Amino acid sequence: MKLLIIVSLTVLVLTFIALNSGAYNIAATDKHWAITEKLISWVRDSSIKARAKEMEVPVLDDPAMVEKGFKQYHAMCTECHLSPGKQPTELAIGLYPQAPLFYERVPVTDEGEKSSLSKKYFWAIKNGIKMTAMPAWGPTHNDETIWAITAFLQKLHGMTTERYTALVDTHHDDLMHDHNHGHHH
Ligand code: HEC
Repeated sequence: MKLLIIVSLTVLVLTFIALNSGAYNIAATDKHWAITEKLISWVRDSSIKARAKEMEVPVLDDPAMVEKGFKQYHAMCTECHLSPGKQPTELAIGLYPQAPLFYERVPVTDEGEKSSLSKKYFWAIKNGIKMTAMPAWGPTHNDETIWAITAFLQKLHGMTTERYTALVDTHHDDLMHDHNHGHHH
């Protein structure tokens, strides 16, 4: 028993000395071990799942809602999450962990799966994800807007460049308006 305490304390002190000396490389370019990455993903997924579980998902198929979500996504998310046909930005390239590309994901058709994915998306957008670059949009956007973005993310799964470009062309005037904060040309 006494030996166990001495060994534990020694390990603690040595760990403290090593970390305090800067032994751990915090650089975004220094990748985690595979096991650490698995551990982080597991903690993140469990945390989001538990917190998003009790949420009520509204109807997400309304075209006006999806359209609103598209405009928000185009203005606020593509710098990191890109969009069909968009070349990786310098910001996106430097991220660790990398931001997922939603348009590369397979569209979800099963209603149950779709609903639980919507809950996870909504939660992540509203609250952000600690120690990644994923910001919380809840402090600046209401739930209705965040559900609209969630609705669009589901539609973004598997979206072609043609379809995304068509959306950009259709809403060209609105998008210009948003980017210029109200200035007209
Ligand atoms: C500054 C970069 C950045 C911006 C801007 C950003 N994200 Fe993210 N986002 C990330 C990163 C990095 C992750 C991955 C986090 C992780 O691996 O745990 C992420 C994760 C997510 C996730 C959870 C990922 C999953 O696998 O399901 C969702 C949903 C998401 N972002 C949506 C959005 C939406 C919607 C916007 C715009 C309103 C946005 N993000 C803007 C960087 C960003």
